[in-house]
Formats: sequence, C-alpha cells, structure tokens
Amino acid sequence: MADKLLDIQHLGVHFAIGGLFDKSTLRAVHDVHFSVDRGDIVALVGESGSGKSTIAKLICRLEKPTSGKILLDGKDVLETEPHAAGKEYRKRVQMIFQYPFGSLNPVHTVAYHLSRPLQLHQIIRSNDLRPRILQLLETVGLRPAEDFIDKFPHSLSGGQRQRVAIARALATEPDLICADEPTSMLDVSIRMDILRLLTDLRKEQQTAFIFVTHDLAAARQLADRILVLYAGQLVEEATSDDLIADPKHPYAQLLLAAAPQQGGSLDTPLPAKPGAPKNVDPQPGCAFAERCSQAMDVCRQQTPGWTWMENKRRVRCYLYGDTRADEETTK
Ligand SMILES: Nc1ncnc2c1ncn2[C@@H]1O[C@H](COP(=O)(O)OP(=O)(O)O)[C@@H](O)[C@H]1O
Ligand SMILES: [Mg+2]
Repeated sequence: MADKLLDIQHLGVHFAIGGLFDKSTLRAVHDVHFSVDRGDIVALVGESGSGKSTIAKLICRLEKPTSGKILLDGKDVLETEPHAAGKEYRKRVQMIFQYPFGSLNPVHTVAYHLSRPLQLHQIIRSNDLRPRILQLLETVGLRPAEDFIDKFPHSLSGGQRQRVAIARALATEPDLICADEPTSMLDVSIRMDILRLLTDLRKEQQTAFIFVTHDLAAARQLADRILVLYAGQLVEEATSDDLIADPKHPYAQLLLAAAPQQGGSLDTPLPAKPGAPKNVDPQPGCAFAERCSQAMDVCRQQTPGWTWMENKRRVRCYLYGDTRADEETTK
C-alpha cells in the first residue's frame, strides 16, 4: 500500500471582498481534497486566478483556511500545531516561490540564506554549518560550491537564484515541497534544468512535491498525477499519462487544446465561450457551465460531485455520472 504523507480534506478559503455597500465573497479555494504519497509528485494545474498559489500557501501554512483539514502522517496539523508557526510542520513542509528575484534578500549572502533554516531548526552545530551549506549547493548543481557560497543574490542569474531557493527548501530535509510555478520566470533552457533537478531530488531523497504550474507539458514531464483546478475547485484528477492522453472534464480538454505541444502555457486566453470563472458569490451549479459547450440544464442548477473511474481517476462533471455535490459522502 502506498505510504500516504499528506491528506487534504475539504479545504477552503473564502475572502470577503468589496466595499461597505457591495460586499461579496470570493471563493478562492473551495472543498478541495486530495492526498500526496511519500515521494509522489502531484501537479496542480489551472489558469491564472484558479487558486493554485492559495492552495500551496494553505498547505505550507502561510495562509489560514476557512474550512477543512490538513493531515500530515494522519495527524490533523491545524489541531496539533494550531499556531501557523508550527515549527515541526515547517521543517517537514517547505515552499519554493515563483519569483527567484523576490524570495532572496539582496543584502544577505547565499551562505546566510542557507544557514537560517539550519540554525532555526537546530539541524546542525555552528562548526558544521559551512560544509553542510557547500553540500546543499552541490546538491542543487551550483558547482563548484565555493564559487557561490559567499555571493550576493544580485550576482546570480535567475536560474542560479532559483537553485539557491531550492537548496534553502532542502536544508531541513523536508518530506514535502510545494513549488509554486518554480520555472515560470526562467528562460526555457533553464526551465528544463530545474525540472530535471526536481526529478533527481525525488529519486535521491524521496522528497514529495506539489508542483504548481500553468504549463501542462511541464506537469506531464514531472508529475505522477495531475489535479486540474477551475475557479478554486478541483474538477479532475488522473495520472499524468491518462490526463494528457484523454482529458475527461471539458475544462481539462480545453486546457490541453490550448497548450502548445511543448512547454504549453495556459495563461494565454483560452479558445472557449466567453465568461469568467464563477467564484464570486457563487450560485449552485458547475462553475464552468457558462463556458462549457456541452453544458446541460442540470449543470446550471446543481454542483456536480465526483464520478470515480478506473486507475483512481475522478472527474466532477455530469457527462460521466449523476453524482451531486450535496449528496456526496466524504471519500
Ligand atoms: N488575500 C486575498 N484577498 C482577496 N483575494 C485573494 C487573496 N489571495 C488570493 N486572492 C484571490 O484568489 C484567487 C486565486 O488566487 P491565486 O491562488 O493567486 O491563483 P493562481 O495562483 O491560480 O493564479 C484570485 O482571484 C485572487 O485574486
Ligand atoms: Mg499563482
């Protein structure tokens, strides 16, 4: 049996938006559930604004959920470590951010950035700090490490900075890293190197990744499974091969059609019926119904639940079954 590491149950975050007289609720993330096994790479894919970063932040506890549970090794972390600064959790679940330029402090050296987590989590004695930092730099391919350790971020390229950010995330030897579009700000040639590095890390260190991306080709290359997100809700989950070969949800089909063969970007406008994702003051029904060319009456009336298929595949769409979200039991 697979070794379940993280279990996300019905996670949600709703923001109050608007002014005094036009208050609205934005459902940035709604009723999201999925799990990640040890050493698994799961890609979270969706267009801009679909809630990918918010989910990554919720999992790394940089954002507070309004509902739901986060279980690590079966323990409800919001209950056992109620303070967001939960040190043990932070040690085990790390984040890599999208912007390698903003995530490193320009006034500090590479050595300083990497020494912080090592000291904060008391992972290493002061005498051993420098050798461990050199080792981390080697691991992320910054070689010879002596050439990089005393540098400041401004003298590094974007790809090198992202490698430092990855090394910093690795310092605590985490079980899980949430990587929020870690390659989207990098040149195409460097993107491939970083994806290869993440694949190697999983192989060598059994680190699990939640890989947030709008690039379906990168998701396929890196991930075991792909989760498709639309307007804050998951609409499909399948193995990467199954999803790319035969996307079921009309939105997943649209994403694939919109993605160029190589390095497809889903941030480009999609060739769909016009309409915005419906997650502000949402009404019952499928959030995608308005843009869906196959929408039926029921799609606009009741939110679809999950239909399960072979190979642990699931899709939230009435084209494949008649499960309603309000009748659904927790699976
Ligand atoms: N703190 C916040 N307050 C209000 N709205 C937010 C906040 N954080 C995110 N959002 C909104 O939640 C939605 C999802 O955002 P995000 O998770 O950044 O999407 P993605 O990473 O998929 O582009 C967006 O509409 C965004 O504007
Ligand atoms: Mg984002």
